[in-house]
Amino acid sequence: MIDRNDLQWYRDAIIYQLHVKSYFDADNDGVGDFAGLTQKLDYIKDLGATAVWVMPFYPSPLRDDGYDISYYRGINPAYGSLRDFKRFLREAHERGLRVITELVINHTSDQHPWFKRARAAKPGSAARNFYVWASTDKGYKDAPVIFLDTEKSNWTWDEQAKAFYWHRFYAHQPDLNFDNPRVLQAVLDVMAYWLDMGVDGLRLDAVPYLIEREGTNCENLAETHAVIKKIRAAVDARYPDRMLLAEANLWPEETAQYFGDGDECHMAFHFPLMPRIYMALAQEDRHPITDIMRQTPEIPDSAQWAIFLRNHDEMTLAMVTGTERDYLWSFYAADPRARINLGIRRRLAPLLENDRRKIELLNSLLFSFPGTPVVYYGDEIGMGDNIYLGDRDGVRTPMQWSLDRNGGFSRADPAKLFLPAIQDPVYGFSAVNVEAQLASPSSLSTWMRRIIAVRRSHVSFGRGS
Ligand code: NOJ
Repeated sequence: MIDRNDLQWYRDAIIYQLHVKSYFDADNDGVGDFAGLTQKLDYIKDLGATAVWVMPFYPSPLRDDGYDISYYRGINPAYGSLRDFKRFLREAHERGLRVITELVINHTSDQHPWFKRARAAKPGSAARNFYVWASTDKGYKDAPVIFLDTEKSNWTWDEQAKAFYWHRFYAHQPDLNFDNPRVLQAVLDVMAYWLDMGVDGLRLDAVPYLIEREGTNCENLAETHAVIKKIRAAVDARYPDRMLLAEANLWPEETAQYFGDGDECHMAFHFPLMPRIYMALAQEDRHPITDIMRQTPEIPDSAQWAIFLRNHDEMTLAMVTGTERDYLWSFYAADPRARINLGIRRRLAPLLENDRRKIELLNSLLFSFPGTPVVYYGDEIGMGDNIYLGDRDGVRTPMQWSLDRNGGFSRADPAKLFLPAIQDPVYGFSAVNVEAQLASPSSLSTWMRRIIAVRRSHVSFGRGS
């Protein structure tokens, strides 16, 4: 069972990140589900993870893999029911595993009832003002476009509203308007809904962009921090053992502001460290790492960095200079297909050319740097990717459990899978799978178990300076 009196559990955690659709398909319809994930909790526990971060599983048109939410209080039927989710949560807790879910509040899907209501409502009304509107597309021009391979502007014309709406991501993801107090209240209600159910942590997606102001880049504003402080106060008031994790792709000084004085987020991803680990490896030189560590400020006692090698997005190179980016692109992504936006859409093993010693080296760094490590599902067995799939789907393919059909992920017709399983000779499921690696004392998976056990046996890794 989890200990609700352990208020700083996240500082000693090993976080395992996954998407329910990619993990295990219990009903064999080709899409992973909560019933399947629940069956695999022993695997996650035996790996040594102490927390599971589950990517968005809410009803959604899935045009941004669920980061486009159309209803905040439900489960996408493809992944199961609310009952299945509750059972997963209970069974995770029974095994001592915490559950971190996503609070995607910068934007919703354009299919969310709030947006449908807003575009139909009178200009200036409270319902319209749930989102950010303007009569021209000229405002906030200093805010960069993030998905620059797809979007040209952060404004899109809405024919029904006869106005432009603001979106920092895809045009189908209108930004909520946090200048409207009703929006914050609605978000706090959603948060309480999941925390009451027992969820242990919330990843705050795209949190620097909550508020817009003319003449700024609309990122990281004092007003945004004021909103986060209110969210934190609501957590502390009723759920003192829960955790907020900031997704803020910023320099260390700016990211550290998301800890506030211990009154904003408990955790924040260390985005600039990540590409510098790869830079150091490529150059066989520790300085990229030691330099960024030196630039990383002290953080409040209760705060903790979340550190990672890879995740479900492209390996972002936003936090390096243009010259460094070109270097990393040419070193790690010679094939232009591997590049997307400001990054590289590859998994850990292919980035490192499947060199076992490099994979071990980078994981050793991950597990010994200050902060809480986050492991992306499949990287513990050295899974590959498929850069020929669209967007970032190539790193979100089915988990490879065995050499059975579909890698043991699902009994469905392979044509029915939500994404094809990896089948190439090097990384395909017949070569890389959990079953084989568990049977081998020298496999990457066995090595990962061992290093995680070492990490967990010394509290100083998570708490020391
Ligand atoms: C960050 C998420 O990690 C990414 O997958 C998503 O596309 C954007 N936020 C928009 O929600």
